Amino acid sequence: MTADFDKTRAAFHLPKGVIYLDGNSLGPMPRAAVERVRGCVADEWGELLITGWNKAGWMDLPAKLGDRIGRLIGAAPGTVVLGDTLSIKVYQALASALELNPGRKVILSDTGNFPSDLYMADGLVRTLGQGYELRTVAPEDVEAAITPDLAVLMLTEVDYRTGRKHDMKHLIAKAHAAGVLVVWDLAHSAGALPVDLSGADADFAVGCTYKYLNSGPGGPAFIYVAPRLADRARPALSGWLGHEQPFAFDIGYRPGRGIERMRVGTPPVLQLAALEASMDIWDTVEMADVRARAIELTEAFIKGVEAACPSLTLASPRDAQVRGSQVSFRHKEGYAIMQALIARGVIGDFRAPDILRFGFTPLYTTMDDVTGAVAILAEVMEKNLWDQPQYKMRSKVT
Ligand SMILES: Cc1ncc(COP(=O)(O)O)c(C=O)c1O
Repeated sequence: MTADFDKTRAAFHLPKGVIYLDGNSLGPMPRAAVERVRGCVADEWGELLITGWNKAGWMDLPAKLGDRIGRLIGAAPGTVVLGDTLSIKVYQALASALELNPGRKVILSDTGNFPSDLYMADGLVRTLGQGYELRTVAPEDVEAAITPDLAVLMLTEVDYRTGRKHDMKHLIAKAHAAGVLVVWDLAHSAGALPVDLSGADADFAVGCTYKYLNSGPGGPAFIYVAPRLADRARPALSGWLGHEQPFAFDIGYRPGRGIERMRVGTPPVLQLAALEASMDIWDTVEMADVRARAIELTEAFIKGVEAACPSLTLASPRDAQVRGSQVSFRHKEGYAIMQALIARGVIGDFRAPDILRFGFTPLYTTMDDVTGAVAILAEVMEKNLWDQPQYKMRSKVT
């Protein structure tokens, strides 16, 4: 299959006059999502009422869509399920992994990890007590810090700030050799670059769907558990939909089969309907094609910005092989610069303390977008257009 990116781009609604380089934060709306969600509301919820759980197959959506995401991340059918937010899924995977490695009490992560992952680990450690601890090291020191006292290594594959990518396969092999289980956060990997969970012998992985997978704001997360662990992993968040027989309404909890046990409560049906519309587009492409195109786009952007904006410093790896699908630049006035860009129709985002972040998503980002964004950024920098009070007032979401 060779990807037809003109066709995939046409399948998204992209507001006129906007160059959207923030699909790594919130993917744009698939055009078909409007009708799919409308149908789900009016025809399914409206007409079928509660019978929609059976008649419209709502209850099966988390596993069905999990399989479609699975194709993008090297996960076999029946190993991925959707639900909850990513923070919850991080907690769930981590708790199960810790329980599978009894006698060991240390979680290792890196200081570049997304704060919510570290907060969730911290909360879990506090709840468990009994000497459990979270240890963090600099991203480049992770490999050397894998020691046989660790229970779990918890990493985000692609750094949300810089786009630096860990070597998943290598770190898993190293961790397994030391008897350590690994939990991967694929928030900036799923739909961004090829991931091969089976080939890398991954244990647990989690990720979100509202970024590269375009399920819309608040879309649910996914969780993967390796088949060799899925029937042994005990869910700490033991909700009724992860029960072996939810509708038996037993008062004792018995985990469901395989990945089904990682379900917690009622699935977000409307959001899953939006995700279905997006997966119809994803089903038409191969990750290898997406990755090849993303590398062309990011390389061109880096080249253009470095030539035109000498005061911006590249914060992402220069080597495309160890970079995700985003490019970040540093500047102490990064926030104001990003606001000035957004005011001119180039949408990226800002991550404290000084990162301007731009996402490249071949399903709808073109080389013309790259050229246009570079030209506008060059003008903003050359004429100090960012140096206005209105661009320095921080909004709640940056
Ligand atoms: C790497 C990473 N992990 C976790 C999260 C938190 O996700 P959620 O808000 O869905 O819980 C994010 C959110 O952007 C993220 O980028």
